[in-house]
Amino acid sequence: MEKLTGLKKVKTAVFISGTGSNLKNLIKFSKIKKSPISIRLVISNTKKAKGLIYANQSNIEKIIFNFHNIKVAEKKILSLLKKEKINLICLAGFMKILSKNFIKKFNGKIINIHPSLLPKYKGLNTHIRAIKNKDKFTGCTVHYVTSKLDSGKIIMQKKVKITAKDNSTSLAKKVLKKEHTLYLDSILKIFN
Ligand code: GRF
Repeated sequence: MEKLTGLKKVKTAVFISGTGSNLKNLIKFSKIKKSPISIRLVISNTKKAKGLIYANQSNIEKIIFNFHNIKVAEKKILSLLKKEKINLICLAGFMKILSKNFIKKFNGKIINIHPSLLPKYKGLNTHIRAIKNKDKFTGCTVHYVTSKLDSGKIIMQKKVKITAKDNSTSLAKKVLKKEHTLYLDSILKIFN
């Protein structure tokens, strides 16, 4: 990713599908002076995503795309991203897999947050798998997105201890808390 020069903030789109706690945190961060990003767009594949409320609250343009036909959806998204001069995409709980073609068009400019210490536990149900395997630690990872699921270059990771009392719900809560700071630290690392 290019280093930031001057005072221009990187025009960013955040893709969500659910609660949007990472989005909420990214929006808050984007408003502070030292933030290298400015969030211009929030994209969701479902109108049910609770996180859309955070776009409303901050007057950020939000758009819902139906992914039943992924080719059509991605074509529309790409033209919107171009129109808005978006230079960074942050996936934050986005539950659709983007096509190779889409990723190629935004090569090196899409990042994702994943709730495990990658390369361990790619995909879903990361916390259940970590507990089942009696891992002592889990955590979260911010990485570049490539066409291989959860396999792109790691930007930063944060560890979380798993205690005997933890179940997947308590662990998800602890990890999510760490995710919020990890996403911001990773963005600062990319651009500073
Ligand atoms: C996070 O755990 C993230 O790592 C995963 O989906 C969850 C999204 O949470 N990809 P939220 O919607 O940001 O609250």
